[in-house]
Amino acid sequence: MGQYKRALGVSDLQPGHAVTVAVDGIEVAVFNVDGRFYALQNACPHRGGPLGDGDLEGSIVTCPWHGWEWDVTSGSGAEDASVKTKAYQVKVEGDEVLVLVE
Ligand code: FES
Repeated sequence: MGQYKRALGVSDLQPGHAVTVAVDGIEVAVFNVDGRFYALQNACPHRGGPLGDGDLEGSIVTCPWHGWEWDVTSGSGAEDASVKTKAYQVKVEGDEVLVLVE
């Protein structure tokens, strides 16, 4: 069973942006898509590129290293949904964004 841990404050990440945070020692990329928050493991499954530094358009983040695209709402590859990266459960409590880590 995991536990929800604070990742950042709601006002720390504006819509359309991404950030990398350490949650319980785990590097997580957090995304704000039109006011909803999502989180993926920061390391891109291709070669470990930092998804938190990627460009976010709608719900799709583009890895800054080689351009693979990921749907941040599911962790699925945008072009090939059979390719997955780890997506974390996220919830907002008050003014805090919490991520479920194991
Ligand atoms: S490391 Fe992300 S596309 Fe290569």
